[in-house]
This record gives sequence, C-alpha cells and structure tokens, in this order.
Amino acid sequence: MPVLPCPPFRHLPTRCRPDGRINGLTARRLLGTVATAGLLLVFSQVYAGATDIERGGYLVHAGGCISCHTADDEGGGPLAGGDALVTAFGTFYAPNITPDAETGIGTWSDEDFLRAMHEGSRPDGAHYYPVFPYTAYAGLTIDDVMAIKAYLFSLPPIRQRNRAHELPWYLSSRLAAGAWKLLFFTAERFMPDASRAAPWNRGAYLVHHLGHCGECHTPRNVLGVTDSARELAGNPAGPDGKKVPDITANRDTGIGRWSADEIEFFLELGMLPDGDFTGGAMSSVIDDNTSHLSAADRHAIATYLRSLPAAPAGDNSGS
Ligand code: HEC
Ligand code: HEC
Repeated sequence: MPVLPCPPFRHLPTRCRPDGRINGLTARRLLGTVATAGLLLVFSQVYAGATDIERGGYLVHAGGCISCHTADDEGGGPLAGGDALVTAFGTFYAPNITPDAETGIGTWSDEDFLRAMHEGSRPDGAHYYPVFPYTAYAGLTIDDVMAIKAYLFSLPPIRQRNRAHELPWYLSSRLAAGAWKLLFFTAERFMPDASRAAPWNRGAYLVHHLGHCGECHTPRNVLGVTDSARELAGNPAGPDGKKVPDITANRDTGIGRWSADEIEFFLELGMLPDGDFTGGAMSSVIDDNTSHLSAADRHAIATYLRSLPAAPAGDNSGS
C-alpha cells in the first residue's frame, strides 16, 4: 500500500497540464495523453488478477534480486544475504532482505523500503553504494516497489547476519557513497514515451529499471559511472572483471542480426542463435530472472532491444 503522497508515474501530470489552448490540450498533446492513459492501462493489465504478493514475487525475479541476495551454498537461505560481489571498487556482500527483525529488514516501514529502492538511502539516512542497483530501481513505480516489499515480507524470516564489505580505506566510509550520489545520481521515475507502443515501453522499463541490464552491459568510467553515450554497447570490465557483450542493434558487435524470436528464446533458455549456451554472469540472469518472465515480457525486452540504435564502434567487448 503506497504511503507516500506522490502517485506512480508522478511525472505524468506535467504532460497533461493545460496550456491554455483548446480546453488546455493541443491535438498532439491530447493524442499523447490518450496514448499514455492506454499505456498505464496496459501496465496494470500485465498483472490483472494477481495479488500484491504474487505480483511482488514476479517482480523480485524480474529485478534479479535473488542473484545478488542469495548465497550459492545450500546453507544460505533465499534472500538472506549473498556471495561476494567482486568489483573494481572492492568486495561487497548483499545483505539479508528477509523480514527477520534483527538481521534482516523486518522492522522497516514502507517509507524505509521506498527510500532504499528509490533514493539509495538507509533508514538511518546513510548512503548505499551503487553496487546495489538503486540507480536503476529508482525508475520503478511506487506500486511495484510496494508489491516487492509485500512479497519479501510474506517470506519466512531468516536469521543470518550481514557480512561487512571489504573496501579500500577511501571508500569504507558511507560518506564516499553519499558524495558519489550527490555527483552522479538523480532519482527519476520511469516515464513512458507516448509515441511508442506498449510493448516498447514495457521493454524499456524492464531493461533500464527492473532488469538493470545496463549495470553489466554498459561500460563505466573510473568513478563507476555508466557511460550514457555507450548504453548497452558492451563493457570490457563487467562483474568479476569479465567482458560483457554489446546488446544493441549493431550487426557486427551486437545482436542486430538476431530475430525477436532468437532474443526471446535466449532470454528463456540461454541458448544463442548458433546453438551454444551462454555462460558467466548471464546464466544466472537467465536462471533467476528472464526465464521466469512471461512470454509477453520477454517479447517486450526483445522489442525494445531491437529498437536501440547500433552502438558506435569502440570497445564493444567482443571476444
Ligand atoms: C547487483 C547485485 C544486487 C542486486 C541485483 C540487488 N541488490 Fe539489493 N543490495 C545489494 C548490495 C551489495 C547491497 C548493500 C549496499 C550497501 O551496503 O551500501 C544491497 C542492499 C539492499 C537493501 C538494503 C538492505 C539493508 O539492510 O540496508 C535492500 C532493501 C535491497 N538491497 C533490496 C533489493 C531488491 C528488492 C532487489 C531486487 C529488486 C535487489 N536488492 C537487487 C546488491 C544487489
Ligand atoms: C550480472 C551481469 C549481467 C546482467 C545484469 C545482464 N547481463 Fe546479459 N550478459 C552478461 C554477460 C557476462 C554476457 C556474456 C555471457 C557469455 O560470455 O556467454 C551476457 C550476454 C547477453 C546476451 C548475449 C549477447 C551475445 O552476443 O552473445 C544477451 C542478448 C544479453 N546478455 C541480454 C541481457 C538482457 C536483456 C539483460 C537484462 C534483462 C541482461 N543481459 C542483463 C551479463 C549480464
């Protein structure tokens, strides 16, 4: 149940704001408004009939929370804290996000959870490191964030203490994370593009926000900021220092030669058009995330990816 005053898609009203002509709406704006209303309807129909908890369970998969927040060994319970995430900035351990009151997030309010997901801040105001992809989740609708919380709070609490991150001294204070946020992060909710069809918008939402594909597929500068000029163009230094390929429509370095069916099949089963299976970090993205999506959502991702301009030549991190 949302408790913050701003509604989902809070940027939308500015689009429909009367501008003084023809009842405040020019024909173009009117079309835009109708299309946007249609999109919102489509977004809500994606989940028609599901309870918040069911919807939240789906979103937890689509958001890839499990890959990071669950340890691989059998002892570590689901979402009770993850394995080492080795980055260029140090080693991080995703914390326990089960509703255990002492070691998890069991005492958190809706506002606490929203602030973590949308603003990257802890309930006590301290800042999270952007290895927790709140930079992507900031785009989620409030409804979706609240459904995720409802699902997490429906799980059995697991008592498991968080592990401390292993960071160089200059990053070990959360003030460093705060400075990073100040410089490089603006919390912006996803705004559908009314000139595009619903599957494209759904795909953009899944790729940029929930599925945070750019966290691995977009290169970063030395300060860990993703390079917006090379979005999804391939990353020479992905998780564990491994290369991550270009997934734009570039026909040579990217997936420009893949059909929509091939992309959807890949996201479902991890099989490449040449019959090989994907490996590395992408296999857990497929296991924990995209294989659980509805066919319509995989189609939306394919639609969106195929619409992306081909990445310019550069390090597109092919092998
Ligand atoms: C790429 C790995 C990764 C993914 C994916 C990820 N997280 Fe996290 N998450 C982290 C890390 C690492 C932290 C700790 C950040 C810090 O200490 O600054 C964290 C912190 C959190 C916290 C704060 C918990 C606390 O005790 O302060 C919450 C809540 C959370 N994540 C929820 C989620 C949800 C929900 C999802 C899926 C929608 C998700 N995370 C996906 C890595 C991840
Ligand atoms: C945790 C990091 C990570 C995330 C998140 C991630 N990927 Fe990947 N992806 C990879 C890696 C690594 C590879 C290469 C795997 C290999 O070498 O077999 C890959 C490969 C791919 C390929 C195959 C490209 C090719 O030419 O072989 C596609 C398509 C793809 N990813 C799409 C996506 C989409 C869509 C998302 C978001 C829903 C996503 N990925 C999220 C790491 C990631």
